[in-house]
Amino acid sequence: MQYLKSQKYDTDFVRANMMGPNSMIILENLLENVPLTSNMRVLDLGCGNGLTSIFLAKEYGVQVFAVDLWISAGENYKRFKEMGLENQIIPIHADAMQLPFAEDYFDAVISVDAYHYFGSNETYFDKYLSKLLKKDALIAIGIPGMKYEIHDCIPEEMEQYWDKEALRTWNSCDWWEKLLLKSDSFKIKRIQEMACFDEAWQDWLKADNKFALGDKAMIEMDNGRYMNLISIIGTKR
Ligand SMILES: C[S@@+](CC[C@H](N)C(=O)[O-])C[C@H]1O[C@@H](n2cnc3c(N)ncnc32)[C@H](O)[C@@H]1O
Repeated sequence: MQYLKSQKYDTDFVRANMMGPNSMIILENLLENVPLTSNMRVLDLGCGNGLTSIFLAKEYGVQVFAVDLWISAGENYKRFKEMGLENQIIPIHADAMQLPFAEDYFDAVISVDAYHYFGSNETYFDKYLSKLLKKDALIAIGIPGMKYEIHDCIPEEMEQYWDKEALRTWNSCDWWEKLLLKSDSFKIKRIQEMACFDEAWQDWLKADNKFALGDKAMIEMDNGRYMNLISIIGTKR
């Protein structure tokens, strides 16, 4: 796949605002064959510096509520304003477990490289997120994961590279499927490994960022064996 939409954005701007593998590329891959239309009100959950919110607003013309915990609403507002998108993207500083929205409010929730931090448990979706979504709302999640469950036998050569806390949240497609099948309100459409792993990671490794420097050795040692990116597409029952 070619990431033609993502390529339109200024490389320096994107690299300066990445917080991990290129989130625009992940989003472009995630939304392939997904029906997102300009009349939708979209929650971008864990938007970080707002690259995905900008992409959603510009490429799909949707209204975006850009929610993040580590990045302030002020920082994101400044970025959105500089791009002339301040009326289309509303920045909000909030915890995914205390979202300040009305019930049945969103037509879609999109989350790139964030959902695993708060959603990899049996309660999150049904207890905190589901009620904010309209019936049949679109759910599109792109997250780092593993090709298979690794936690019981971590390859020795990877131990020094994988952060224990991060590793806890990196799971396989099967693991996510089992988890989400237990939900009363998440209707799974498909869960699969994403094609964009190399493109998204290589872009991040080129960023002038101390975390990216640390990740370089990890990706080289992994060498396509264990880590992946996972897309989860569904709707709210
Ligand atoms: C690795 S960064 C990715 C940011 C962005 N989505 C991207 O791909 O560039 C993970 C993001 O998840 C957000 N996050 C983690 N836990 C969260 C929570 N409980 N509520 C809201 N956001 C959270 C962080 O604030 C952070 O910006």
